[in-house]
Parts: sequence; structure tokens; C-alpha cells
Amino acid sequence: MKNTIRTFLLAIFTLAFINACQNHSEKGEQTTTGQPTQQTINKQNDARLEGDHVTSDEEIPVLSPEEKQAYIDKAKSVAKNAFTIFSGHLKTLFAEKKPEEALEFCHDNALKITDSLAKAAGVEIKRTSYRLRNPKNKPTPQEEKVMEIYRKRILKNLKPEPYFHYDNHGYPHVYIPIMVQQKCLMCHGDPNKDIPDNINNKLAKLYPNDKAIFFKVGDLRGIWSIKFPKNKKN
Ligand code: HEC
Repeated sequence: MKNTIRTFLLAIFTLAFINACQNHSEKGEQTTTGQPTQQTINKQNDARLEGDHVTSDEEIPVLSPEEKQAYIDKAKSVAKNAFTIFSGHLKTLFAEKKPEEALEFCHDNALKITDSLAKAAGVEIKRTSYRLRNPKNKPTPQEEKVMEIYRKRILKNLKPEPYFHYDNHGYPHVYIPIMVQQKCLMCHGDPNKDIPDNINNKLAKLYPNDKAIFFKVGDLRGIWSIKFPKNKKN
């Protein structure tokens, strides 16, 4: 008789214990605090720029902060190389006091250089802006949104940071802000004050629809937009 009662009680305790565990783990999935889990946060961040078109779960492997950082570091190094090549050529031409040729150089080679650099690095690289000089550098709606976010941050005196997300087609994508510095003004500043006449004339000829003037130091000039192959981490 004693044994039967003991078994009975044990069974009840075991059931209660299992039940408690189940409740706990269910709560765990929904988060015990009512806060979104890290996974939902990551997904929200990754999808925030996607508008109505959010990529399905299978296409978005959730990355750890370290994995995202690896993409950002790689993108930064690609952008730095592109910038070094540009400014190296520009510096030579300026040293030879040929600013108009520098312009001609940009016009003829900017896109070609970024293309060949990208091929070498196995990525797609683009320089774009919300006020364009060359219409061929036109931003996608997602790039426009990123620039909007950066400009709002700058208005609040916050630094725009490189940003990782998956684009609508599930490609890993990194955006890097490009800021206006003093040395940019002679081609992107106030045409009446900062840009010398010979450059003004040349710009008018090469870019009749130029919107990339009247920038000030500290403005967002645009972004590097770097697209990686799918699911390749480095
Ligand atoms: C010698 C003149 C010159 C200087 C100096 C110069 N740029 Fe430009 N920039 C150009 C030209 C020309 C283009 C258009 C290139 C093309 O046809 O793709 C351009 C295009 C760009 C673009 C691509 C978006 C667009 O509007 O088409 C960005 C971004 C940019 N410049 C940023 C900068 C920054 C940042 C600096 C300073 C660090 C700078 N530029 C200095 C001449 C110049």
C-alpha cells in the first residue's frame, strides 16, 4: 500500500516537473521579459531597409555580430583601396597643376576603376549620392534609405557608421558613409566661392546636370555600396 502511494506521488511530481519545464521553455522562446530576442533584433535590423519586400527566413542566415563585422572590415578595405587609387591619380594631376585633366580623368575612369577593383576583390562596388554628378551613379531605393538614415544621424550630431544588411535578393551588402572634406570643395563646393573658374567650365561641359555642388565640410557626400556574393563570409 505504502509503495503504491509513493509511486503515485512520484508520478504527480514528475508530471508537475515536466509541465513546469515546458512552460519555461515556451516562455523562453517568446522571451521572458517581453523584449524581442537577439534573433528578432538582428532580423529587424537586416530587414529594416527592405520596405515591404522582406526576404524569407531561408534566404537570411542570421549572422553573429562578429560575422557582420568581418563583412564590414572587408568592405572598408575595398573602399579604401578604391579611394587610394583615385586620390593617387588626382594628386599627380594636381601636382602638375592640371585640375581640368583631373576632372577628365574622373569622368573617364571613375566607373572603370571601381569595376576592375570590384572584380579583383570578388565584390560589386559602387559610389553613389543623393545629389549626383554622374547620373550613372544613381542610388537604388535601399541606398537612398541608408543615406536618409545617415543624414538624420548627422543632423543629430551622431556619427554615421558603416552598415551591414541583406538586400532584397538575399545578398550581403555593406554601406560606408563618404563625408565631405575641405579638399573636396574645389569640385563639390560653392561654384561662386570654392570652385575655380576653369573647373566650373569643365564641369558644365562634362556634367550639364550636375547636382553635386554646394556641399559643405561635414556634409554626407554619399556612400560606398558594396555587394558580396551570397553566403560567402570573407
Ligand atoms: C578634381 C575634382 C574633384 C575632387 C577634388 C573631388 N571630386 Fe568627387 N567627383 C568628381 C567628378 C568629376 C565626379 C564624377 C565621376 C564620375 O563620372 O563617375 C565625382 C563624383 C563623386 C562621387 C560619386 C557620386 C556622384 O555624384 O556622381 C562621390 C561620392 C564623390 N565624388 C565624392 C568626393 C569626395 C568625398 C571628395 C573629397 C575627398 C571628392 N569627391 C573630390 C570630381 C572631384
